[in-house]
Amino acid sequence: MRSEVGTTINLSDYAPPSYLVPSVALTFRLHPNRTIVKAVLDVRRHPDTAPGDELVFDGDGIELVSLRLNGAPVDDVEITPDQLRIAGVPHEPFTLEIETAIDPEANLALSGLYRSNGVYCTQCEAEGFRRITYFPDRPDVLSVYTVRIEAPKADAPVLLSNGNPGAAGDLPDGWHFAEWHDPWPKPSYLFALVGGDIVGAFDRFTTMGGRDVKLGVYVERGKESRTGWAIDSLKRSMKWDEDVFGREYDLDVFNIVAVSDFNMGAMENKGLNVFNDKYVLADPTTATDTDYANIETIIAHEYFHNWTGNRITCRDWFQLCLKEGLTVYRDHEFSADMRSRPVRRIAEVRLLKSAQFPEDGGPLAHPVRPTAYREINNFYTATVYEKGSEVVRMLRIVVGDDAFRAGMDLYFDRHDGDAATIEDFLACFEEASNRPLTQFALWYHQAGTPQVTVETDYDTAKGRLTLTMHQSVPATPDQTDKEPMHIPIAFALFRPDGSHFPIADQSDLVKNGVIHLTKRRDTIIFDGIEEQPVVSLLRGFSAPVTLDIDQPETDRIFLARHEDDLYTRWQALDRLATDTILASYRQSNGETLPASATSLIGLYGEIAGDETLDAAWRALALTLPGETTLGREAGLNVDPDAIHVARETFLAAIAERHATAFADLYDSLLSDESYRPDAPSAGRRALELVLLDYLTVSEADGGRARALFDRADNMTEEAGALEVLMLRQPESGETATARAAFENRHGDNPLVMDKLLGMIARIPGPDAPGRVLQAMTHPNYIETNPNRVRALVASFAGANPSGFHRPDGSGYRLLADVIGRVASQNPQLGARLATHFRSWKGLDAARRDAAHKTLSDLRNMRDLPLDVRDIIDRTLS
Ligand code: ARG
Ligand code: ZN
Repeated sequence: MRSEVGTTINLSDYAPPSYLVPSVALTFRLHPNRTIVKAVLDVRRHPDTAPGDELVFDGDGIELVSLRLNGAPVDDVEITPDQLRIAGVPHEPFTLEIETAIDPEANLALSGLYRSNGVYCTQCEAEGFRRITYFPDRPDVLSVYTVRIEAPKADAPVLLSNGNPGAAGDLPDGWHFAEWHDPWPKPSYLFALVGGDIVGAFDRFTTMGGRDVKLGVYVERGKESRTGWAIDSLKRSMKWDEDVFGREYDLDVFNIVAVSDFNMGAMENKGLNVFNDKYVLADPTTATDTDYANIETIIAHEYFHNWTGNRITCRDWFQLCLKEGLTVYRDHEFSADMRSRPVRRIAEVRLLKSAQFPEDGGPLAHPVRPTAYREINNFYTATVYEKGSEVVRMLRIVVGDDAFRAGMDLYFDRHDGDAATIEDFLACFEEASNRPLTQFALWYHQAGTPQVTVETDYDTAKGRLTLTMHQSVPATPDQTDKEPMHIPIAFALFRPDGSHFPIADQSDLVKNGVIHLTKRRDTIIFDGIEEQPVVSLLRGFSAPVTLDIDQPETDRIFLARHEDDLYTRWQALDRLATDTILASYRQSNGETLPASATSLIGLYGEIAGDETLDAAWRALALTLPGETTLGREAGLNVDPDAIHVARETFLAAIAERHATAFADLYDSLLSDESYRPDAPSAGRRALELVLLDYLTVSEADGGRARALFDRADNMTEEAGALEVLMLRQPESGETATARAAFENRHGDNPLVMDKLLGMIARIPGPDAPGRVLQAMTHPNYIETNPNRVRALVASFAGANPSGFHRPDGSGYRLLADVIGRVASQNPQLGARLATHFRSWKGLDAARRDAAHKTLSDLRNMRDLPLDVRDIIDRTLS
């Protein structure tokens, strides 16, 4: 085990590895409790370093069985809890044979080689390979892997690893073997092995260069009927990466394996992606539209890593955003092309604001490219992923579409086979665009969400609009003084009739409809604006900033009605809704609405009934801002109960005003067509379910939701109707009956039961902690399985502010107890849960004190793993 205190790793200390391992041959003899791993490594000194004679490899919780160097036993070897040290190794290349023993069954951390429902599988990113064998387990050591797996045929008829399949056959005593060879050098974190009684569904894809690739999606026996959507998504991803980025697949097979115990979403191991089964399995009666969309985007994400991550990997873990931010950007673009671009953009921004902004504004804030860590697993964050993607998106705005594509091509060409850095990446775009990106690079280095304030002044006589812009970046841990950033602000100036004023470029300041704010303060003048314009800023959410503009209510309403970019129209509406709810929260603890709410409430009716608008967009427009985002925007001393009341008051007012129109519209949306997962049908269902929620607010018995639940032939409507019942009328008889029917129907499907756990966890109000404790006694809740814990506990702590933030601290104690239990088995899961304390400093005094007490108690817990300790220490600091 690694030390619980841990040392800080600093980017500035980076040094190349002293030893390289150009090739590796691994032999696994799979056994539930004692798997034997034989590693034969071809080792040589790094040409550029002058190391001492000592060789130091990483290891974590493994037993060394034997060790030979050039065929001879090694005497001078030291084994520490996390290292293997051999003194006096030769200067010339040599062969190291390492035999280790590991216990997959006991591995509940789900890192290294473990068993999930009896299936052997691996997760090596970031530092799991060292739990399999001793190795320089760092991403800048690239090796060609040859793997042989041996196992009893009955236990593990399917044996998979990276690369292309080689020999396979039977062995004595009912055993068999399979060999795999991956010609592409890769770091150890991309190694993977799977063995088990799993079943494959197969297809083929012919690449643009004519390579015939065999595609396989493997699942646990009995689940093979739910693989179709994953394969379909994979084929579309492969085609899209060829069409849009010119990237072709490079092996004869591409395999995906779905396992039921997995710490994250999925993993891009070369040629053998391993997935959380939640992001593979789908059919109409068990998966919702959201599940279909998530599967599509995550399959794409992992596939796209083949170029952005695998062919070009990271030099060190500080560069994580080099592969993750870029790959998220690529999967966003893919989903935008597959579905509606504005609708996808709204979903992206909602996620950014609910997950990344609070991270960036709290004690866990860190740059997109951090410079120090104690535990790298704690940096697989919304900042590295989501903000990392936003930075790539801005880069494209800054250099322009053509230079962006040229820069990507240059990056693929120049760095293929490399372990690269953010500097390498940016240099390609500097070259392609012929402009320096020094200031732009601050997006990678400075943490915190920049704040932009804008003052507008219109001079009728001169026909001149003046925008005075000011930017500031808040202080974040370890970063107090910030430099001004390069903030691209896409904009438009509207005439009262909804047309645009034409805008001329102004050298570097205004180009192609984008204001490039690079100074702390800048003034932008537009002449020839013959009447007072309505200013629309940050169109398409062109930069991840908060924007404060002195704009009259009428202009905001104008944009919510007439902005012709649909993402931005939603943004205007969302801003209005947020301001209205927060005004109510401030003025009356949410009990009454400000007078200004009236016209906005009217607008919701217009939008709902506007058939020219995409139903999916209307559904999002009618979805009020979430309580987490509202709480963050409310500032300090926040009372989540009052936020909840304020949002409900507004929602009820909209429901009441439009009761008849919403009911008619709802009825017209009900459809007898059989389920299809495509975007238009999903949009119709989304609108239907949002309306159902409004309509149920004022209903005594939940009859409408109950009727939908009963007639539903697909999980989207079935779970959607049940959720409305559970959240609106948790104690009603209709709800109890529907819930029992749901459990009865789906009790044997853990992924579907997770949906129910999530609903229980999200029921707002004071009874939430008690309900969650009760649900933990449910036989489906298994605390070693991350999906179950996330469905219940992370939903409670992350998606139910009024339930989690109880002033008496009961929600906090519940979370701390789970963390205490989970952390010793699965440190990564424990640490993830602990991040839900991150916004405690913004709460009112009673809650703050309660959170502080719970956090301090947690910190004092003995044997707290480093992963959790790191989060708690930073959260408290
Ligand atoms: N590279 C994976 C992905 O984004 C995530 C794996 C993270 N694993 C971890 N233990 N932190 O697709
Ligand atoms: Zn990724």
